[in-house]
Amino acid sequence: MQPGRLGWKKNGVCVLLAGILVLGAAGCGEKNGDETKITPSVQPEITEPAPQPTEPAEPTRAAAAEPTEPVKEVRTNFYVSTLDEEIPSLSEAWKDYFSVGIALTANDLRNELKEELILQQFNSMTCGNEMKADALLDRNCPVLSFKSCDGMLQFCMEHGIKMRGHTLVWHSQVPEWFFMEGYSNQKDAVFVSREVMLERMENYIRQVMEYVNTTYPGVVYAWDVVNEAIAPGDGDPDGMRVEDSLWYQVIGADFVDKAFEYARKYADPEQKLFYNDFNTYEPAKRLAIVKLANRIKEQGNIDGIGMQSHIGMSYPSLDDFETALCKFSETGLEVHITELDINLDSNTEEDLMKEGKRYKRLFFLLKNLMDNNKANVTNVTLWGLTDDGSWLNKDGKRYPLLFNQLLETKPAFWGALLDDGIPLY
Ligand code: G3I
Repeated sequence: MQPGRLGWKKNGVCVLLAGILVLGAAGCGEKNGDETKITPSVQPEITEPAPQPTEPAEPTRAAAAEPTEPVKEVRTNFYVSTLDEEIPSLSEAWKDYFSVGIALTANDLRNELKEELILQQFNSMTCGNEMKADALLDRNCPVLSFKSCDGMLQFCMEHGIKMRGHTLVWHSQVPEWFFMEGYSNQKDAVFVSREVMLERMENYIRQVMEYVNTTYPGVVYAWDVVNEAIAPGDGDPDGMRVEDSLWYQVIGADFVDKAFEYARKYADPEQKLFYNDFNTYEPAKRLAIVKLANRIKEQGNIDGIGMQSHIGMSYPSLDDFETALCKFSETGLEVHITELDINLDSNTEEDLMKEGKRYKRLFFLLKNLMDNNKANVTNVTLWGLTDDGSWLNKDGKRYPLLFNQLLETKPAFWGALLDDGIPLY
């Protein structure tokens, strides 16, 4: 399969000679570096990335080679208005590999143009904030309110989109009063006991799952049961987050085990349970996550690991990304790339093209690792639709996603499709 080849209008496409990319790659765990260059040499011509076990090395240019291949059309315009033009669908292009998801806010669905684009491109959705504890809990606890996410769940049910449930147990975006005696929000509030907090946690997980699964049956296919519980350096022997986690402080390190136990108890049998974290490619964090995941797996209560993947233009190296992805896959669990974006802080054409190349290298890596059974990625989710709506865009100068605020494609979009017009380097 070649992702990104599904019928689009021939806008911005010019006729060029057959490609001269030659790609090198190493096996999982072998390192050739994100930006490693190989010595140029004359190579046979190929027109598309050959399946290789890992990220490619720099392409080699054939010196003054005569064209021997038939001519091939290569895209040159990467800024296509999704309002005017038909563009290939990411979820369709990657359907033999993984579902392609999008994190949205309720506001995104109030815009018909965005709605149309979402339906065309994605087959998985994540609520950016609307299903978090601070959105569902009110101080009339234990009664939860689902007003924040009802519309998004309804949209998914109506249109056959599956949802990642994000997120049940997280140290952030959960009100402090949830951990206090009498749900007090006063300064002199006192923490409840471990036993009471375990009861509250179980009740919370049960209510969220029961509501979602009975009101919108079949919509949620995966739950981020625990989010960001690892923070090596906080003093816990297993690298658990301690300092800013009231879950850890009130219940203890096994709050993760208990959360997964309760989640399994109330989840529908076909729903997958995930541990989700950021910077998963950092070695200490990666090791701690593998250890935790193996422990929960022995208990039979976890199905996958979420690599959030808020990455930069040069950090992490794709070698480190690959190592983490392989190690997580070696546990036998599924991997979801749950929150992908690239923190680009410039919108020059040159930098947007560099971003497109990085997206292409990343998707190429995923493809090659999967083709070679080194990785078990079942979903890739972009953390936002358009640059202007990204969580990163507090200063208005971030360009991390596949579409710009005019709902035009960026080079990043074509990179994610492995389009021939985007060079790998
Ligand atoms: O709801 C209030 C609103 O009432 C107020 O007027 C407004 C003023 O700033 O703030 C609103 O809350 C914001 C909320 O997003 C909803 O828009 C918060 O300030 C803001 O901090 C919050 O940011 C979210 C962030 O999580 C908070 O942790 C981002 O939108 C959301 O994309 C982000 O998502 C997380 C994932 O869940 C977990 N992984 C990391 C990822 C990025 O931080």
